[in-house]
Amino acid sequence: MKIFLDTASLKDIREAAKLGVVDGITTNPSLLAKESGDPEEILVEICKTIDGPISAEVVATDAEGMVKEGRHLASLHPNIVVKTPCIPEGLKAAKILSGEGTRINMTLIFSATQALLSAKAGARYVSPFVGRLDDISTPGMELVADIIQIFDHYDFDCEVLAASLRHPMHVLEAARMGADIGTMPVAVFNALLKHPLTDSGLKKFLEDWEKAKAQMAAKAGR
Ligand code: G3P
Repeated sequence: MKIFLDTASLKDIREAAKLGVVDGITTNPSLLAKESGDPEEILVEICKTIDGPISAEVVATDAEGMVKEGRHLASLHPNIVVKTPCIPEGLKAAKILSGEGTRINMTLIFSATQALLSAKAGARYVSPFVGRLDDISTPGMELVADIIQIFDHYDFDCEVLAASLRHPMHVLEAARMGADIGTMPVAVFNALLKHPLTDSGLKKFLEDWEKAKAQMAAKAGR
C-alpha cells in the first residue's frame, strides 16, 4: 500500500520524507488554510520535496471554474494531481481534465456509487473518507471494501485512496483490504512505527552491550 501524508505542513513533510517511505501527499483547502505563506508556493515546495502525486484541490463549484483552476494547478508542477469534489459539476470537470491528461483525485466520496461514477469519468484516484463516515456511526472501512470489490470486476485505471484515516487501525484495515493508498495525518504516520517493545528492547540491547564492553575492558586490564 502506498503511504500518503494528509497535510500541507512543509516542516512535517520534510521530516517524514527522511524516512523514505512517503509516496505522496494529499492537501485540501482546510489543510492549506492552516499554513502561513502562499498556497501555490507551498504546493510547489511540497512537489519538490516528495516526488510523487501531490493532490491540490479546486475551490470552484462549477465545472467551468474547476477546469480553469485545475489547469492552473496542474501547470504548477508535473507532480500535481487535481482534486475535484464528487458532485455533478466535479464529475463534468473530471471528465474534461482527465481527457487532457491531468490526473484527478475525486474527493469527498461517501458512497461506492460515487466512486464508480468517478472512475467512469476518468478519475485516477477516488478518496473515500473513512473517519467522517465513522463520525456519523457508519462504518467507513466498509465503503473502502465495497469500492475495492467493485473495481476488482473492471479495468478502471483508478486507485482506491483511503482518506480521512484517523488512527493506525484504519491504516491497518485499509492495507488488509488491499487499498492502493492510505493517506493520513503525520501523527498517525508516526504512530505506525512506534512500539514500546521496540524502544525497551533496544534500550536493553544497548545496556547489555555496554555492560559486556565494561567487563571485557576490566578483564583486559587485569
Ligand atoms: O484526505 C481527506 C482528509 O483531509 C479528511 O480528513 O480527518 O478531516 O476527515 P478528516
